[in-house]
Amino acid sequence: MTTANVITFSSFGGPEVLEHHTKELTAPEAGQVSLKQEAVGVNYIDIYRRSGVYPTPLPMGLGFDAAGVVTALGEGVTHLKVGQRVAYATPSQESYASYRTLNAAQVCPLPDSVSFEQAAAVMLKGLTAHYLFKQTTPLKAGDTVLFHAAAGGVGLLACQWAKSKGITLIATAGSDEKCALALANGASHAINYVKEDFAPAVRAYTKDKGVDVVMDSVGAATFDGSLSVIKPFGMMISFGNASGKVPPFDLGILAAKGSLKLTRPTIATYVANMDTCQSMAKELFAMVGSGALNVHIGNRYAMADAAQAHRDLEGRTTSGSSILIP
Ligand SMILES: NC(=O)c1ccc[n+]([C@@H]2O[C@H](COP(=O)([O-])OP(=O)(O)OC[C@H]3O[C@@H](n4cnc5c(N)ncnc54)[C@H](OP(=O)(O)O)[C@@H]3O)[C@@H](O)[C@H]2O)c1
Repeated sequence: MTTANVITFSSFGGPEVLEHHTKELTAPEAGQVSLKQEAVGVNYIDIYRRSGVYPTPLPMGLGFDAAGVVTALGEGVTHLKVGQRVAYATPSQESYASYRTLNAAQVCPLPDSVSFEQAAAVMLKGLTAHYLFKQTTPLKAGDTVLFHAAAGGVGLLACQWAKSKGITLIATAGSDEKCALALANGASHAINYVKEDFAPAVRAYTKDKGVDVVMDSVGAATFDGSLSVIKPFGMMISFGNASGKVPPFDLGILAAKGSLKLTRPTIATYVANMDTCQSMAKELFAMVGSGALNVHIGNRYAMADAAQAHRDLEGRTTSGSSILIP
């Protein structure tokens, strides 16, 4: 029997609600795989879950992505082997664990060119960048994107992705140091939105034309300003709510601002299909392995210090990705 260290929570609240337990690892059933996990991603969605912004039944585990080694396979799993290096992103929310058994469909082979730490740091965030830039709306060289919180985990990947495709990315971030990091990762301009109102600055950078697309994961604090800087026919991608959920609003605003489009995507839909998930991950790992995408790991924590990782992430002191080591 293998004993796993796991983190769960049984009430919504601050980082103090995280509980450390041990549990026996279950053998994989048909379609499942067991893993020894070497590195675990910390994502802002873990904070929405823990705090109850996205309510779940309780008690519940935490975490969407991790990397490790296959220790056992259930019947019918043919795309993996025992001993293989793998990584996954799945909404099943139990990745804060030293060992884990889960459905194999979203567990993807990890090439030797990508370390466990890189994989844990890039899996959910990089697949998010993939769908934002390649799938949500057509984007081409010469287009302009406003990206909020651009020095964060998804943000630094987005800066590099945009630069590599010839897309002008206007970054916002919460300090001058974070702005400098976004610029160093490929942003064309950076605005410290704690010090200055970002909307007039975006208008000035675009010579009053506005941007083609806004990628807004900050939510309540930025939503109105974001809508005010989009070109006619442009798109608002609202994909997170770090500052709070966007309140209900009058759809007529989209007409008044120039026939704008609005979407509220989730990675869960994009990775639901096994073949799509596997091919997105393959492409992502190729970019990381070749050095085309640099994974900035700003903070590493022992899994026992997950509460501190949460405090730092919601305290806006982190840049790039944070990971836990089980
Ligand atoms: N829908 C999806 O499929 C999907 C998938 C992955 C991630 N996301 C979303 O994308 C965002 C980025 O995720 P991540 O894990 O990479 O996190 P992150 O960007 O590393 O951290 C969140 C950042 O949000 C900014 N922020 C602005 N206002 C804030 C506030 N009031 N409180 C806390 N932070 C605030 C902070 O950057 P500044 O200090 O620079 O403002 C903070 O560093 C999150 O909102 C997440 O939920 C969505």
